[in-house]
Amino acid sequence: METEVIKFGASILRQTCTPVSQVDDDIRSLISGLFASMRKAEGVGLAAPQIGVLKRVIVVDVSGQEPDRPPMALINPEIVAADGVQNGEEGCLSFPDLYGEVRRAARVEVQALDADGRPVRISADGFLARALQHEIDHLDGKLFIDHVSPLKRQLMRGSLRRLKKMGQAWDREQQAEAVLR
Ligand code: NI
Repeated sequence: METEVIKFGASILRQTCTPVSQVDDDIRSLISGLFASMRKAEGVGLAAPQIGVLKRVIVVDVSGQEPDRPPMALINPEIVAADGVQNGEEGCLSFPDLYGEVRRAARVEVQALDADGRPVRISADGFLARALQHEIDHLDGKLFIDHVSPLKRQLMRGSLRRLKKMGQAWDREQQAEAVLR
């Protein structure tokens, strides 16, 4: 089932996710939810905390940009090697309509488990390397605006303030639901 992507300002986006100890049906249903939410929002990647789950799971689909790369779901992904530098515009489904230039490693090697719990290793450059670094950042509570220049961030200030209200409203809803539970 797809969920609306949680917006900047919600405290969950700043938390560290816990590793997945067992790849079971709960994790596979989380993966389906991530894919559904990412597609509905027309994104190229999504991390579990963006739909309210503090687990180390991401999905990435850059097949629109790099047709030889199938959509991927990665569990406990880790960057085991990185080199080079690339600069480029980046956005995030938690920050609708906001973009900023972010410096990333040009190439990364990522180790993870797939949806069947099998170890996988991905060598990526260009756009996929950027998407993987962005999504893995989410698992440690890091957001792309943490990487944009202070000047650009200053220019985004008004939009960020408006967004933050949406995120904080989500926090309050969660607290209200927790009281009812
Ligand atoms: Ni993002």
